[in-house]
Amino acid sequence: MTGIPFQQPGVIGAGRVAQALALAFVPHSTLPPLMWGRSLDRTTSAATRVGAVTASAIDRLMAECDIVAIAVADDALGDVVNALVALPAASRTRLIFHVSGRSGAAVLEPLRRGSARTAAIHPAMTFTGDPAGEVQRMAGAHFAVTGSSADATKHAQQIVALIGGFAVEIAEERRPLYHAALCHASNHLVTLIAGASRILEDAGVEDPAALLGPLVRAALENSLAMGFAGLSGPLLRGDARTIGEHLNMLAAQSPDTLPAYRAMARATLAELKRGETTPSTRLTALDSLLAVP
Ligand SMILES: NC(=O)c1ccc[n+]([C@@H]2O[C@H](COP(=O)([O-])OP(=O)(O)OC[C@H]3O[C@@H](n4cnc5c(N)ncnc54)[C@H](OP(=O)(O)O)[C@@H]3O)[C@@H](O)[C@H]2O)c1
Repeated sequence: MTGIPFQQPGVIGAGRVAQALALAFVPHSTLPPLMWGRSLDRTTSAATRVGAVTASAIDRLMAECDIVAIAVADDALGDVVNALVALPAASRTRLIFHVSGRSGAAVLEPLRRGSARTAAIHPAMTFTGDPAGEVQRMAGAHFAVTGSSADATKHAQQIVALIGGFAVEIAEERRPLYHAALCHASNHLVTLIAGASRILEDAGVEDPAALLGPLVRAALENSLAMGFAGLSGPLLRGDARTIGEHLNMLAAQSPDTLPAYRAMARATLAELKRGETTPSTRLTALDSLLAVP
């Protein structure tokens, strides 16, 4: 793509990803992006925030825009597709894509008509409501692309490159697997830190984030650089008495965190068994210790 690639992009939805995408499109559009959402008030406030314009109706957005991004809740995607199918085919629209992780392009199949190509473009990034910061984070992030045709995939890859990202092609049938991996790594990490912070509070630590920050960042960097070889701690050493004490204290002082601790410890043990670096006798002792009572 050269020059200004979009005449006017359209974004359906007014939430976190919708706002970040609209803002990312602004410098690449002749006209400000059009946004449509089910609440006029929320959409107007979102559009104003990111330099976009509110579309009074979804059919106006479909008639005016050369690319259309659907950024609504995963469970609403089917309803939005049904609403769009009921509209007259838009001759101007060259690509319609959604940003959901779990689905590929098949969910948009009813829209693949006229000249519209369809694709799924999922940013492997977390969006929490800071559009300006998230535009910067999208530059350098990876995006899972699944197109309904080679042309659609190419077009989707160009859009990713335009906002500074790296496209990774994921096959339609592997989208749920891909998405499960991302949720496991990023969403469960947040849950893990929240649980660990509560345990630290129970241990009398006033600022758990400050204590955990340097340790967790180092563990993350090590695991990204070395994989499972980045592991340290009592499970690696086979220190069964230490683990036993953890389980007893958590049961007594922080019982709501015990199931997650036990599940993660068991998963760590399973990885250790795959690696065959810790003597199997030590692993057997840990196995029975961590068995669900
Ligand atoms: N957040 C992330 O970290 C992230 C990362 C990558 C991809 N995604 C994907 O981005 C998409 C949007 O997620 P988000 O985090 O931006 O969600 P969000 O901030 O909660 O926004 C969801 C949007 O969907 C709209 N919506 C919900 N139900 C609807 C319906 N039945 N009809 C029409 N609109 C409806 C909401 O409208 P109201 O404002 O009226 O409620 C809101 O504008 C999802 O597919 C998600 O998987 C999210």
